[in-house]
Amino acid sequence: MKKKLAFLLAGAMLMTAALAGCGGDKPADDSANTPADTAQQDTPAADNTADGGTLRMLTNAAFPPYEFVDDSGNVAGIDAEIAQAVADKLGMKLEITDMAFESLIAGLQSDTGDIVLAGMTVDPERAQSVDFTDSYATGVQVVIVPEGAEVKVNEEKDDEGNTVKSVDLTGMKIGVQTGTTGDQYCAGDYGEDAVQRYDNGALAVAALVNGQVDCVVIDNEPAKSFVEANKGLQILDTAYTVEDYAAAIKKGNTELLDKVNGALKELKEDGTIEGIITKYIHD
Ligand code: ARG
Repeated sequence: MKKKLAFLLAGAMLMTAALAGCGGDKPADDSANTPADTAQQDTPAADNTADGGTLRMLTNAAFPPYEFVDDSGNVAGIDAEIAQAVADKLGMKLEITDMAFESLIAGLQSDTGDIVLAGMTVDPERAQSVDFTDSYATGVQVVIVPEGAEVKVNEEKDDEGNTVKSVDLTGMKIGVQTGTTGDQYCAGDYGEDAVQRYDNGALAVAALVNGQVDCVVIDNEPAKSFVEANKGLQILDTAYTVEDYAAAIKKGNTELLDKVNGALKELKEDGTIEGIITKYIHD
């Protein structure tokens, strides 16, 4: 899927900053050792969506500060807290399962879980297989490179005469997390051969540190954590694209979709969502 969106970096960064400030305080390295497909809590076959039942969340906890495994081995982060707040509103118990990012949608389809919160981007292809809730956060796909690396930036004028910049990764080996939008965009824009896929972002960044790839395309907030945790890396000023994050629910489960959207609306209105985000992402 082609989606090389040119846009003004400043605007994009301001959007994220406006939403959430910047500078996460969570270390990234925990996630490097997080095996995918590890259940963090029990996930019994549940009577799942009834009031008072269990809300079974699926995620990939290698994506700080949205989700990571904390010192006690539990999944923590923005998505875990938002899901807990939603479950509380609905009078449900929350259970979280950590699995490979690329298996999350299949996990909904096979009823392994009821809801995915995983910094997941609302994407038309995914929307054919799942229903997305209303968006609760903005993400920016950015490019991590070794400090001082030269990357071509194209400048064009848009219809209103504004200068828009876009990165040109032609000729670079690009590390991505398998199945993410970064993976889709880069494979679409630069071809399958340009893309090197990894189970999680930390492994892609490790490959960058080792010189196996030339850059990593990943979401801005985990990118900041990974760059903080590894010397000699930088995030390019010109980003790749801006996206919306939402929760995903099995297609057709409108009862749960409506309930979660109702809860999210209240949690946005009373400032809970913003409070959770700024707890993890701040200046
Ligand atoms: N926002 C990107 C996407 O939806 C990456 C999300 C990765 N999330 C994670 N928990 N590993 O494809």
